[in-house]
Amino acid sequence: MSDPPLLDEHSDATALPAWQRLSTHARDLVRTRLYDLVSEDSKRFANFTLSGAGIEIDYSKQHVTRATMDLLIELATESGLPDAIDALFTGAPLNYTENRSAHHTRLRSDDRHDSEVNTVLERVRSLASDIRSGAKRGYGGSPITDVVHIGIGGSVCGPQLVFDVLRGTPSQPGCHFVANHDEHDLGEALRRLSPDTTLFIIVSKSFTTPETMLNAERARSWFLERGGDPQTLGGHFMAVTGNARRACDFGIDEQNVFPIWEWVGGRFSLWSAAGILTLAIALGWSKVNELLHGARAMDDHFRSQEMSANLPLLLALLGVWNANFLGATSHAVIPYAHRLRKLPEYLQQLEMESNGKSVSIDGSPTRVHTAPVVWGGTGTVSQHSFHQLLMQGTRRTGIDFIVPLANGDENTRAMLANCIAQSEALLRGRPTDECESELPPELSPSERTRLAKHQTIEGNRGSNLIMLENLSARSLGALIALYEHKVFCQGIIWRVNSFDQWGVQLAKRLGHQLEQELNPAHPLLGPTHDPATAALVRHVRGDTS
Ligand code: F6P
Repeated sequence: MSDPPLLDEHSDATALPAWQRLSTHARDLVRTRLYDLVSEDSKRFANFTLSGAGIEIDYSKQHVTRATMDLLIELATESGLPDAIDALFTGAPLNYTENRSAHHTRLRSDDRHDSEVNTVLERVRSLASDIRSGAKRGYGGSPITDVVHIGIGGSVCGPQLVFDVLRGTPSQPGCHFVANHDEHDLGEALRRLSPDTTLFIIVSKSFTTPETMLNAERARSWFLERGGDPQTLGGHFMAVTGNARRACDFGIDEQNVFPIWEWVGGRFSLWSAAGILTLAIALGWSKVNELLHGARAMDDHFRSQEMSANLPLLLALLGVWNANFLGATSHAVIPYAHRLRKLPEYLQQLEMESNGKSVSIDGSPTRVHTAPVVWGGTGTVSQHSFHQLLMQGTRRTGIDFIVPLANGDENTRAMLANCIAQSEALLRGRPTDECESELPPELSPSERTRLAKHQTIEGNRGSNLIMLENLSARSLGALIALYEHKVFCQGIIWRVNSFDQWGVQLAKRLGHQLEQELNPAHPLLGPTHDPATAALVRHVRGDTS
């Protein structure tokens, strides 16, 4: 295995001069209220807003000064980010624990000399067009009306998010995403479907993931039990995988197997056939093309813009600033667009599976906190649930508000107004004397003071406002690529490998064993469990001895 790129540099972020200077700077800066920083600079909005690839980020309400930003950029430089960005785009083996590159940008690079990628894009385009036009039909001669996409994690989150944002009403053909081990997930998807008009797309890089394999087998049984026969199965099941042999063994025609290359990580696989096959069938090729185009625009921006004007780097640095220097324990993603409701879930996998690590590049423990907990929900609905915590809770949270500006209609205005109101309230707060002055005069002074304290909002809480030109395929592609690159930059700064996920393996193995053991007809497999788990297993099995 080759040496990881950048290994020779350092593995301890705190040893960097910029990290130490940022620590001192943060201790000083928090003595100045954010509201004062904002109030004393009439050009704050203009000076702290960046744009590129159709996206604008207003970070004027972050607890930063120009000096903070300069120090953060020094941190990026000392972390080796310029070289790391080159390494990403040239396909260096950045996933050094698996000796693989993380070359997802190649999938959207529009390089006409890349015949490996272009051949697959063309196969996807042509198959999707045949299905949508009715040239390719179900075994009974009817057009395909529904696509069932089976996969989990990176093999479903991306296409599900994109479909949700871009689908028309109703979408044609219908599209259903199935991930969970729980049989009700597939059961609900199949409820009104008929085998002769349904296409199954099984997406799994490994083609061994238990949830996906189980759902694929259930789907195959459903197909055969309801009138499909083994000869027609090949035309109704497609696979996208890095393990073509297993897909063929499952019964899928070789011509219906599309690749996920080794150099494409699961959570970065939206741009491969893993995402775009289903999307091209459900939405049409032009939408997919626009999506790729938007991502490519963000790639170009990320690769070419200097650090002080670089959107993904900016987002990464502000995240590091909030999490590592201002003590934010989590990061909330709040899109003000119903159609972006799957974004928090998508980013949970992208950010936490990538950077939820505690071992540094050389195998030593990281000395710094890495990925914060990512969570969120759509505004305005979230205002009626967790914004209370954002306003008055004891924990600091990093916040991304995301809003499409679109056409300035009434709906957009109302959403935008709500979104801006939240960021302004977080910034300025509501002082106790203002609360007290608005309480009914008939209350006793002590009652007024007590109530006013409950109503006080401290303020001084920062947030980003990410503005999209609109909610088109192009903007969405740019937005997703923005977060992909943010995650990459943070991984470099925290010195972790953003492209592996060893942490999920142990429980997978234990789950496999437990599934057998929880069956009372099956013997316990030996003294491998801790006493608490062993007792729980016996309890659930109903063992009496
Ligand atoms: O949860 C671990 C994981 O490997 C993810 O990284 C991945 O996206 C998901 O499982 C699905 O894996 P596969 O595509 O191999 O089925």
